[in-house]
Amino acid sequence: MKTQNIEGTVALVTGANRGIGRALIEALLTRGAKKVYATARDPKTFLGLRDERLVILQLDVTSADDIRTAVDAASDVEIVFSNAGVQLGTGIMDSSVVDRARREMEVNYFGPLQLLQHLAPTLAKNGGGAVVTIGSAAGLTNVPFFPTYSASKAALHSLTQAARVLLGPQGTSVFGVYPGPVDTDMARDVAMPKTSPHDVAFAILDAIEAGQEDIFPDPFAADFGQQFGSSPKAAERQMAAIAAAMLAGSAA
Ligand SMILES: NC(=O)c1ccc[n+]([C@@H]2O[C@H](COP(=O)([O-])OP(=O)(O)OC[C@H]3O[C@@H](n4cnc5c(N)ncnc54)[C@H](OP(=O)(O)O)[C@@H]3O)[C@@H](O)[C@H]2O)c1
Repeated sequence: MKTQNIEGTVALVTGANRGIGRALIEALLTRGAKKVYATARDPKTFLGLRDERLVILQLDVTSADDIRTAVDAASDVEIVFSNAGVQLGTGIMDSSVVDRARREMEVNYFGPLQLLQHLAPTLAKNGGGAVVTIGSAAGLTNVPFFPTYSASKAALHSLTQAARVLLGPQGTSVFGVYPGPVDTDMARDVAMPKTSPHDVAFAILDAIEAGQEDIFPDPFAADFGQQFGSSPKAAERQMAAIAAAMLAGSAA
């Protein structure tokens, strides 16, 4: 895999208004990106950051129209961070589970798929560039505290593997990111030590520059990645134990 310099590059981030997406924007600017497209469902929610290299675009990743418009506007993009995501709840037996799971699939899997479909020709035209999918450790081994979210991230992981092969010939590098708990709105109910989005964002950029295609950007993820690599079954048991503790805690 070829490495990807951040300095001087043109980047696009989805879900850039808060959490890890927002931290990625700040990290990209700090590391000398030439231009950064910060995209959000509602651009008015992207607050408090001014920089002449920043271009704010409206983009709901579930809207084909939004994707087409954003791709047209960002015709010079070289590195794409598919970061937008939702985690909509726990359990698999409540009456809303199928609707919830569909929505998670729409945002976490079909969104990145559609974005990739439309952006791949742009990346090819601009020399290949890179795609970075923000998956989850829960996409490698289901965390049954959020089972349907984990399943959507497993789909994204699978797509990431496919994209690596299918976009390789056009010179596009594909990086998969598998964070553990990060201190954002999404992980509000996760009672575990969490890494700051700032630290995660810089770790992601470091790993991209080092050419690491599977990125475990925080201490929990790094340990988990090692365990998953040596024994997927042991990793499954570890995630099951973590989920059991979380379920017991939420019931107490
Ligand atoms: N936090 C963690 O512990 C953790 C761990 C592993 C992986 N991740 C992944 O990291 C990514 C970022 O999550 P986060 O922790 O930063 O969560 P977050 O603070 O809840 O932020 C989620 C972001 O996704 C955006 N988004 C949701 N639906 C969207 C849509 N249809 N179109 C465009 N943007 C949409 C949100 O925008 P709005 O403000 O408009 O809702 C928001 O900017 C996600 O893919 C998540 O699955 C997070």
